[in-house]
Amino acid sequence: MAQKIQGTEDLYGDYMRAWQHMQDTARELFGAYGFDMIETPAIEQIDTFVHGIGESTDVVRKEMFRVVSGALFSTLLEAGSEHGLKPRQRMAMRPEGTAGVVRAVVENNLVPQGSSPAKFWYAEAMFRGERPQKGRLRQFHQIGLEWIGASDAASDSECIIVLLEFFKRLGFDPAQLHVALNSMGDEACRPAYREKVRQFIVDHQDAMCDDCLERAKINPLRSFDCKNEACHAIMQQAPLVTDNLCDACVSHYDQVKAYLHKAGIAFSEDPTLVRGLDYYTRTVFEIDVVGAAVGAIGGGGRYDGLVEVSGGKPTPAVGFAVGFERIMLALASCGHPLEIPQPSCVYVAYTDAPQRQAVFDATLALRRAGIRAEADYQGRSLKSQFKQADKLGASLCVIIGEDELAHNYYTVRDMQTHEQTCVEVDGLVAFVSEHC
Ligand code: HAM
Repeated sequence: MAQKIQGTEDLYGDYMRAWQHMQDTARELFGAYGFDMIETPAIEQIDTFVHGIGESTDVVRKEMFRVVSGALFSTLLEAGSEHGLKPRQRMAMRPEGTAGVVRAVVENNLVPQGSSPAKFWYAEAMFRGERPQKGRLRQFHQIGLEWIGASDAASDSECIIVLLEFFKRLGFDPAQLHVALNSMGDEACRPAYREKVRQFIVDHQDAMCDDCLERAKINPLRSFDCKNEACHAIMQQAPLVTDNLCDACVSHYDQVKAYLHKAGIAFSEDPTLVRGLDYYTRTVFEIDVVGAAVGAIGGGGRYDGLVEVSGGKPTPAVGFAVGFERIMLALASCGHPLEIPQPSCVYVAYTDAPQRQAVFDATLALRRAGIRAEADYQGRSLKSQFKQADKLGASLCVIIGEDELAHNYYTVRDMQTHEQTCVEVDGLVAFVSEHC
C-alpha cells in the first residue's frame, strides 16, 4: 500500500474544517487591521532563502528541501555537485513564508512608498526536513502576517496584540498564553555582542558540546537554544543581549514594552530568546501555551534589513507566523479542542428505482438554491439511507416514495424530532430554506 512520507499529514474531515476555520478567522481579523491575503510559490530559488533566512541557520543548512527537475537530476548526479547549475535551476521548497513574501513585494514593486505600507497575510504549507515528532512535521501549515514599511514600536506591539486576539478567537484562554519577548539589537550593536558570545563559548569550550563549538564559528547566538544540559547551564552565564543594546535599540524596546503595558498585555522578557532565523532585528517574540508541551505555537519579530537584502530599498518590517498543527495539539491539551461541526445538509431519500429521477431533480433544485444536499443512488433500504443522513448530520430528510411520486409532493422528515410534513414539489426549496 502506498504510504505518505513520515512527518506529513493528510488534511480532511474535522481536521480540514479546523484548518479552514483558522483561515476564516485570520481573514476576518487581519482584514480588519488592513491586511490582504497573498500566496507566493511553494518553490523559490534557493538564494531567496539563503540570503533571506541566513546561510548559517539550521533551517537553511540542514532543513531545506532542495528541488531538482527530473531533466536536471541525472546531469547533477553525473557532475557530482550543483556548482554548474544556474541560480534559477537551484530551487527549494519554502521552509517559511517571510522570505518569499518579501521577495514578492520587491519583485512586484510593492515596496512601500511614504506612508503606505505593504500589508499581507498568508495561509500556506511549509516544508522543513526536521526529524518528525509530536508537533514537528516536515510539511506543516502556517498562517503568517507581514507588515512591510512599519518602523514604529507601535507596530511591533500591534503584531503581538493581533496575534493574541487570533489565539483567543480560536478558543485559547488568554491566561494560558505565555508571551516571551526580547530585543536582538541591530546592525549597530549586534556584531559586537555576537563576538562577545563567541568569545564566551571559546572560553568555556572544554565543557561545551561539539555542536556549540561549531556554532561559535558560524552563529554563536544559537548556543542559547542548545538542548545539551551542560551547555544550557553554561549559557545562563553568557553575556545577555539586553545588556549590550545600543541606545536606539534600548529606546525602541522600551517603547514596545510601554505599548504592551498600556494595552494590558502580560509578557515576560527572555534575554536568551534568539529565534532560529537570521533576519531578525530588535524585537522578537514567541508564544507558548502553559502546560501544553508542544513548543511555540507562534513567533515573529522585526526584520528591518530583509527588504534591502532582497534587492529593495531599506524598509523596516515586522511580522509573525503561527503553526496550525501545533495550535491543534495545544488546544486539545488545554481541553478546548477545535471542533467545527459539519455544515447542516438535507438528505434526499427514496424507496424504489422509479423515483431516482425525482431524487435527481429535487437534489439539483436544492443545490441550485445554494442548499447543501446529499443523495445516494445505490438503491439501499430507506433505513440505511436514514443512517447515512444521520452520519452526514442532515437536519432534514426529503423522502420520495411511490405515493409522493404519484401525487407530486415530498415528505420532509425532521431528523431530530422525526416529525414529517408533506410539501408540494414546487414549494420544496422555500420549505427547506425556512426549516434547515
Ligand atoms: P518560526 O518560529 O520558524 O517563524 O515558525 C512559526 C511557527 O510555525 C512556530 O511557532 C510553530 O508553531 C510552527 N512550526 C515551525 N516549524 C514547524 C514544524 N517543523 N512542524 C510544525 N510546526 C512548525 C517563522 O517561520 C517566521 N517566518 C515567522 C515570522 C513572520 N517572522 C516574521 N514574520
